Amino acid sequence: TNPLRIGLAGLGTVGGGVVALLDANAELIARRAGRGIVVSAVSARDRNRGRGVDLSRFAWVDDATELAGRDDVDVVVELIGGSDGPALTLARATLGRAKALVTANKAMLAHHGLELGDLAEANGAALKYEAAVAGGIPVIKGLREGAAANGITRVYGILNGTCNYILTRMEAEGLSFGAVLADAQAQGYAEADPSFDIDGIDAAHKLSILSGLAFASRIDFAGVAAEGVRAVDSADIDHAATLGYRIKLVGLASAADGKLFQRVHPCLVPLAHPLAHVEGALNAVVVEGDFAGRLFFSGPGAGAGPTASAVVADLIDIARGPAQPAFGMPVAALTQFETADQASH
Ligand code: HSE
Repeated sequence: TNPLRIGLAGLGTVGGGVVALLDANAELIARRAGRGIVVSAVSARDRNRGRGVDLSRFAWVDDATELAGRDDVDVVVELIGGSDGPALTLARATLGRAKALVTANKAMLAHHGLELGDLAEANGAALKYEAAVAGGIPVIKGLREGAAANGITRVYGILNGTCNYILTRMEAEGLSFGAVLADAQAQGYAEADPSFDIDGIDAAHKLSILSGLAFASRIDFAGVAAEGVRAVDSADIDHAATLGYRIKLVGLASAADGKLFQRVHPCLVPLAHPLAHVEGALNAVVVEGDFAGRLFFSGPGAGAGPTASAVVADLIDIARGPAQPAFGMPVAALTQFETADQASH
């Protein structure tokens, strides 16, 4: 079978992670997908920046939009970021040509997701965005597929790894906000403009996408009331701890009587609640379904590896095509392990 050929736009933290993951797990991915997934062409602002992966084997294009029109590109992966500008131009060009688009761009989806969804439908093209919300946690698949049969009353959680990392280290080490932010940036968690993290905007982008899926409603980013963590200081964290709480930046959405409530703000979370124990750059999402009950998803929410993991999962979905293998790959291709001596563990 022919490999699935990727045009990759944006080689920052996540783009570099996607190339590294496709290299490291190439064989496993090809088995699971039923065919190889290869990068054909890339575009990035700075060609010469060291990224720790060999990029000389790919074709380079200067204008990302060209990726959509290339004959050697089946799927475009958009990792440029930003709600408008080149990311949006590329997304429109890709779907307009009936090619699949995989994106990690929550800002673009929050602002233009419905338009892009319409375009994808009109052209019969896939639009996939697992990496846009909560990094490595498969919460888009969880909501769209796993919980699809449920009436959902609430969806809420910790949706920004940078803020959670900052709050965790402020509490554990008594550090100031500014000292920890620089570190979150160095780890590759923060947005290009970290005020999006700190002011709750990034969490609001993600919440609007989650609530759209949860309530089968049109994404309404403008309707999210957002407040960030700028005003939280060490004394607040200490007082909260004395009373048995942790301060977390929580995004919460609920729908009732035809009204959608969407809020992001610092919350006092009681230590008895699992959200209180989500630490560092982890994220967590709670989905309350009328039949499934309370589902709790947690895991790494930011950074190169987790986000790349979600991007490549979407690529594998596309490579597999509509008839998804029941056990993740053809039964004939599954490995037969020897049974270990169970007592030896
Ligand atoms: N800046 C984002 C965060 C990256 O910290 O959660 C992942 O979307």
